[in-house]
Amino acid sequence: MGEEPNRAKHVAIIMDGNGRWAKKRGLPRAMGHQRGVEAVRKLVRSVEPMGLDCLTLYAFSSENWKRSEDEVDGLMNLMRKFIKSDLPEFISNDVRLKIIGNWQSLAPDIVEMLEDAIEQTSKGSRMLAVALNYGSQQEIARAAAKAAAIGEVTEATIAAHLDTADMPPLDLLIRTSGEVRLSNFLLWQSAYAEMLFVDTLWPDFTPEILQAALDDFAMRERRFGGR
Ligand code: IPE
Ligand code: IPE
Ligand code: MG
Repeated sequence: MGEEPNRAKHVAIIMDGNGRWAKKRGLPRAMGHQRGVEAVRKLVRSVEPMGLDCLTLYAFSSENWKRSEDEVDGLMNLMRKFIKSDLPEFISNDVRLKIIGNWQSLAPDIVEMLEDAIEQTSKGSRMLAVALNYGSQQEIARAAAKAAAIGEVTEATIAAHLDTADMPPLDLLIRTSGEVRLSNFLLWQSAYAEMLFVDTLWPDFTPEILQAALDDFAMRERRFGGR
């Protein structure tokens, strides 16, 4: 192992720092989220040229409900707007939308919109997975309960019931904004993922920064416990 550069197939990003981006400019937090969506849009366009099979974005955690009603409503409205405006582009860019997390319990109109978007993009070959109302501990508990229901709780049966079961193994996990924690994101899937923590605030994140992260990843030696 080790001589061939590694090509990352699945990258996940904890998109953090929208609030601080806005605060630095004396703007409302909502503006930070709005600019955050712009960063997402540019990044999604770069998935194909970067040769990624799957990009997973942490958009709303199961703990984010603790924020003000105003902020939560604003985030949900941004989600509605984003799906509506970008769905045609997903379809023409060969993107397949997937949602992970407890998204079925979001507002019924959002659930309907997402189901429609998933259906309309089902032929796409590059996966964009958005984590919505996502908490990794809850995901693992749900998967373990399903494994128990079939009478076999093993590493394999739990993995097979995670929301990510049909996704490639996670290669690289990136968090922006300088925080060095996982905040309940992809705990199981990160067992052997490479990690990268960058100071960039999410609205300032660019495809060039992702490309630099992929280049850095390519040079890392992944051992998976062996030698
Ligand atoms: C990330 O930015 C976006 C979401 C969690 C939805 P934050 O809103 O957490 O920004 P900071 O951490 O307050 O700067
Ligand atoms: C994690 O960011 C969730 C998302 C990026 C969607 P948070 O800003 O919610 O995490 P903490 O509160 O700093 O751990
Ligand atoms: Mg944050």
